[in-house]
Amino acid sequence: MDAHAMKVEAARAALAHVEDGMRLGIGTGSTAAEFVRLLAERVAKGLSVVGVPTSERTATQCRELGVPLATLEEMPELHLTIDGADEFDADLTLIKGGGGALLREKIVAAASERMIVIADESKRVDMLGRFPLPIEVNAFGLAATRIAVERAARSIGLGGPVELRMTENGPFVTDGGHFVLDASFGRIRDPRALSGLLHAVPGVVEHGLFIGMADLVIVAGAAGAQTVRPRAVQQNP
Ligand code: A5P
Repeated sequence: MDAHAMKVEAARAALAHVEDGMRLGIGTGSTAAEFVRLLAERVAKGLSVVGVPTSERTATQCRELGVPLATLEEMPELHLTIDGADEFDADLTLIKGGGGALLREKIVAAASERMIVIADESKRVDMLGRFPLPIEVNAFGLAATRIAVERAARSIGLGGPVELRMTENGPFVTDGGHFVLDASFGRIRDPRALSGLLHAVPGVVEHGLFIGMADLVIVAGAAGAQTVRPRAVQQNP
């Protein structure tokens, strides 16, 4: 099975958790896009759901395929969010934001009773940090914020380049009008400590560490889709 087929497989398995009448948070990225495609097929056959998209990109895809949408203002409490991830570990701590939608993704996931992550096997890691950590920052004071982020990371032994995400036309700008710093800190031993330190930097809007938010990950590999629960839950069923 190639990577694309795995994404489709994970998305298909996630669809089994979607029930009629649900208010759904809908993620961003190539795996979430497969989920939207399959969801739209079910909607066309009569499934009744309303989605809150986590990005303009996802909103556009939903509109094109006929998935009914609402804003988070209109529907601030959601049953379930289904989204992709750039990395997940055994605690189901995630790195997200490779697609630049991390702020809305985190707000939508936090407004949901449950979050299911869909991923291919390549996203599973022993320790987070192979994928550069996206950090959404205010454009004002960018240089000062970058220095403060580097200093905060250094205080817990993390170094490495912190780079402004660029497009061919200049800095990448999020749906919220912010910039993104991609921080190649390497292995993140204590995501909770890093999260607290980053939140304490005034110019940081949000970061891509999702801690204690995912209820399960549906991960697709060569043998098909498998459901992974957080390590602590596995120990105390
Ligand atoms: C979007 O900002 C991200 O958080 C995505 O969920 C993440 O990058 C996974 O994307 P893919 O499914 O394309 O790998």
